[in-house]
Amino acid sequence: MMTITKETPHIKPNGVEIAESILLPGDPLRAKFIAETFLEDYQCFNEIRGMLGYTGTYKGKKISVMGTGMGPASMGIYSWELINVFGVKNLIRIGTCGAMQENIELYDVIFGMGAATDSNYGHQYNLPGQYPLTASFELLEKAKKIADDQGQKVHIGNILSSEIFYNADRGANKKWQDVGILGVEMESVALYWNAIQARVNALCILTVSDHLITGAKTTPEERQTAFTKMMEIALELA
Ligand code: ADE
Repeated sequence: MMTITKETPHIKPNGVEIAESILLPGDPLRAKFIAETFLEDYQCFNEIRGMLGYTGTYKGKKISVMGTGMGPASMGIYSWELINVFGVKNLIRIGTCGAMQENIELYDVIFGMGAATDSNYGHQYNLPGQYPLTASFELLEKAKKIADDQGQKVHIGNILSSEIFYNADRGANKKWQDVGILGVEMESVALYWNAIQARVNALCILTVSDHLITGAKTTPEERQTAFTKMMEIALELA
């Protein structure tokens, strides 16, 4: 019997399964680190363009982890293929963000309940108005319960998913801060759109890596520790 192996221009799993639940860091080397540190019996399912992906088990449950790259275009490609070709149902982005409110500190964890955006990603649907981009309530509720059980403080609210890291409009951040945006990142717009469109679950969990009001920044070593807090929630959630 012929085995039909699914593959796309960007993901070639060579027969390795991709689990229904996946963790999505931006950095592919972070995906490798997560597989090596937290998963058992893991196998690599993607190496194309160095966008490493792995499937293994965590507490006996099969989960995958894969890098997404930066920005809506890259996240858009990988999450679309994972959902629509490989049947992934729960997509949990684990990333970093720049904090936009005074009461948020470096290393704090943010759940992106909704995402505002300056991106055109959603224009492809030609809707006759605006659409509120939201996380999956199911994942959000579960993640909050896990954080509570672990005694972890989290901020939950709207984030900004921007296409632009180096913004020529120096006043743009202030405007988003004024309407209560908690933090800025660059991928949830594409993730949430793809998940909403296909009726699957997505949630964006972020660790604050820099502060746009105070100018404070984390060092790579410090980020590692802070990252573990977020991982403890994400692994239970997956
Ligand atoms: N990710 C982490 N920090 C960020 C920032 N300041 N802007 C956009 N994305 C980010």
